[in-house]
Amino acid sequence: MTTSGFAGQFALVSGAATGIGEATARELARRGARVGVMDINAAGARRVADSIVAEGGEAWPCVTDLLSWEATQKSVQDAHARAGRLDIVVHSAGGFPQYVNLIDCPVEAWDTVVNSNLRSMFYLLKAAAPLMMGASYGRFVTLSSMAARSGVNPNPPHYTAAKGGVLALTRQAALDLGKYGITVNAVAPANVLTPRTLGIRTPERIAHIEKSTPVGRLARPEEIAAAVVFLASPEASYVTGVTMDVNGGATMI
Ligand SMILES: NC(=O)c1ccc[n+]([C@@H]2O[C@H](COP(=O)([O-])OP(=O)(O)OC[C@H]3O[C@@H](n4cnc5c(N)ncnc54)[C@H](O)[C@@H]3O)[C@@H](O)[C@H]2O)c1
Repeated sequence: MTTSGFAGQFALVSGAATGIGEATARELARRGARVGVMDINAAGARRVADSIVAEGGEAWPCVTDLLSWEATQKSVQDAHARAGRLDIVVHSAGGFPQYVNLIDCPVEAWDTVVNSNLRSMFYLLKAAAPLMMGASYGRFVTLSSMAARSGVNPNPPHYTAAKGGVLALTRQAALDLGKYGITVNAVAPANVLTPRTLGIRTPERIAHIEKSTPVGRLARPEEIAAAVVFLASPEASYVTGVTMDVNGGATMI
């Protein structure tokens, strides 16, 4: 998979204060894009943006709570105004706080997890698409999960449902926006070595994942970012509505 540079382009990356979002923001910047580091974590967003700038790139923090439509719309519009364009949105914010099965999943946790993974995607699409339509160009790449591709046990029901919704919304948005030069695609990772997931996976579970994954290990965030960057590139112009599984062969569909 080769991709040309992103020189002159502007990418907004949600959840970019850490993990897969951070790796994606760094790779897009390394390839020449200016990057808006969007996250609710102000200190983390500042850290990543400063470090991209220190390495010779261009980036700035876009502190946003994606659970708020007003905050998301304002942040996207402010970033567009500052950059003068909006070519790429990567939606990596989301995840879940702990493994829990269907019966034990607290009722109160449903809204937070579904909203931070799925409603946030709707907000980002609704805010960004009109700006991209005005330029007849756009790349929207969102993070789903192997949890939505096949049964994974244990996996929290709110997270699995949200990531399934992410795939359905990806296809619907691809249908609606294709005629405007905007592609919408999803990447579905399985087990990635990010600080959050290392915190919620026991050593026994990690050993089990390594044993049951054909490539024999968990993914590095950079390996997920590579797929995101391809889908965000000009070269991926005829790829839309797809889910790219990046899971080391853990599930083959
Ligand atoms: N890490 C994995 O193993 C894995 C596997 C499959 C899918 N994914 C998905 O990939 C994405 C990134 O995963 P990760 O492990 O890098 O996540 P992470 O938890 O390390 O990072 C998520 C980021 O999103 C931000 N965020 C959360 N809620 C927000 C809100 N309301 N507004 C703005 N920012 C908010 C957090 O502050 C954090 O910086 C997630 O959507 C996750 O579900 C991850």
